[in-house]
Amino acid sequence: MEEGNFDSDVLPTEERYHLGISTYRSTYEKSLSSPEEFWREASSILDWNRPWEKLLDDSNPPFYRWFTGGKLNVSYNAVDRHVRSSRRNKAAYIWVAENGDEKIVTYDGLYRRVNNLANAMKNLGISKGDRILIYLPMIIEAPVAMLAAARIGAVFSFVFAGFGSAALADRIEDSKARMVITADGGFRNGKIVELKKTVDEAVERTSSVRNVIVVRHTGHEIPFDDGRDVWYHEVVPNSMNFVEPEVMDSNDPLFILYTSGTTGKPKGVVHSTGGYSVWVANTMKWAFNPDENDRWWCAADIGWITGHSYIVFAPLILGLTSILYEGSIVYPAPDRLWEIVERYRVNILYTSPTAIRTLMRFGEKYPAMHDLSTLSVLGSVGEPINPAAWKWYYQKIGGGKCPIVDTYWQTETGGFVIAPALGLGLPPLKPGSATFPMPGIDPVILDENGKEVPSGQKGYIAYRKPWPGMFMTLNNDPERFKETYFSRFPGMYYCGDYAVRDSEGYYWLLGRADEVLKVSGHRLGTVEIEDALISFDGVVEAAVFGKPDPVKGESIVAFIVVRPELHSDTEGVAKIRLHVRENLGPIYVPDEVHIVASLPKTRSGKIMRRVVKAVALGDMPGDISTLESSASVDEIRAAIEEFKKQDV
Ligand code: WT7
Repeated sequence: MEEGNFDSDVLPTEERYHLGISTYRSTYEKSLSSPEEFWREASSILDWNRPWEKLLDDSNPPFYRWFTGGKLNVSYNAVDRHVRSSRRNKAAYIWVAENGDEKIVTYDGLYRRVNNLANAMKNLGISKGDRILIYLPMIIEAPVAMLAAARIGAVFSFVFAGFGSAALADRIEDSKARMVITADGGFRNGKIVELKKTVDEAVERTSSVRNVIVVRHTGHEIPFDDGRDVWYHEVVPNSMNFVEPEVMDSNDPLFILYTSGTTGKPKGVVHSTGGYSVWVANTMKWAFNPDENDRWWCAADIGWITGHSYIVFAPLILGLTSILYEGSIVYPAPDRLWEIVERYRVNILYTSPTAIRTLMRFGEKYPAMHDLSTLSVLGSVGEPINPAAWKWYYQKIGGGKCPIVDTYWQTETGGFVIAPALGLGLPPLKPGSATFPMPGIDPVILDENGKEVPSGQKGYIAYRKPWPGMFMTLNNDPERFKETYFSRFPGMYYCGDYAVRDSEGYYWLLGRADEVLKVSGHRLGTVEIEDALISFDGVVEAAVFGKPDPVKGESIVAFIVVRPELHSDTEGVAKIRLHVRENLGPIYVPDEVHIVASLPKTRSGKIMRRVVKAVALGDMPGDISTLESSASVDEIRAAIEEFKKQDV
């Protein structure tokens, strides 16, 4: 790829950020040349029960261990220490419901809630090292549950409340969760999402769960198993029950978060207590440079890493005030997000390119209805941001005065790895580039053979050094951890993305280099969706791939082979889609399902997804010499032609 293809407008930004990038450069250099000194200072962002002795134990790569010997508790750092300071009555969260209700929870209020839930969890037999699973909507109890677990040293796994029962069961099974914390339901687009029912189905398929704590939120009738289920309000009193924070080792796991890879089985990404917390708090400061009194709104869901790191841990460790919003950003009207920005005078808004493109489609008139002048910084995350969306965000939302902080990172990286470091001096921005690496990050762009490519050339992005926020392992699967991330380019962490570094050192992230899709910023595995499709009785083969989509980034296309009784039955297709929805969740439902008589396969019988995709998208199928028969290729073309006709 030619460097000249990149838009390199340098846009003016607000005066207060014109610090140049010399502080960034010297900080970055120090982080690599004197890591001991650098991290000694950066780790003082936390209160430690015992200072760490060794910065990095790299005796057993790639199982790097940071801040060894250090002891701390994350809930203490996120809550207790603020309660002992002038932040005691400061809002930790301003919770906003889809219907407009609001609730303000101070640091003191959070402290009481966390202690009380921690106490209830202990009373139900949960102790240090146990695993619990959280399946909650965007309500206060979500951060409370994460912090309560951290307080008693239980490892939590938060599962996005949009996941279906099979996905939930897999995660319960793999994490061996002893407890589930859920709600009767959640609100979305004016409707109730049945969370408790999904939990019941999932728990039935597994054997580890002893208790389910249920938050009464929607208030509708739900099934209740008296031997297993308990109401949150019955076990969590309103009075204050102090629970001593468990003193944890820096390398005790804090949480497991499942994410998609190239196989059907989701990966349980394990994050540490010390390294992760140091990383998220520092990266938030470096990238967004928040003021003590800013109102921060990370409009992601807590169920994803963005929410874990930048709705819960980083802002709380820093003692900031966050907006926590339950609901759709375009319900009941397309100005919902802007209305919340105005009503709560939000200073920093952090959202995804898909959200920006969705809002952009509705037109300028919606943001123009609201006073957005409190905004000072705008963030983007989850997928590459195209220059047109970047400029719209910059001009129409930020009024040409708010820097765009495009943060590139992953579930595995814990926090930002490439992002403009506003806190260290704003670099001139280029729309579509995440700019430069965070301190401690040492990226390299490689070709197929692991050779560094010249600037301006596309390659695989990898990292030469570990950093504190990097995940520790995959739950139950250290071999897969090594194999997936550290074998492609020996000695380096390979993350599955393409990137370019231009001649000025700016990084441009170009999307996934593997069989992973990014649909509306959500990371989905093609194989996961294929497995869900063929688990439907009557579907015998499936090939799933992503098709470029102007709003969602990618849409999901499935080609399936079905048994004769299902053939050409549209009701059948509706049932298949419902099956995927109930098992994996609505975000996994294919946008297009095409039934064909056969799929192209290699002589050894492997479905050639690449060929299906190329043919369906009208590209040349490439080398198909290993193909078993070409009839299936013609059939895919015909199915697409037919689909296009129906579409008009
Ligand atoms: C994948 C990770 C990052 C937290 C939320 C998603 C893509 C993420 C960017 C960005 C270009 C991006 C990558 C990455 N990605 N942010 N700013 N520019 N691509 O975490 O679900 O683990 O997905 O999202 O492809 O590998 P995730």
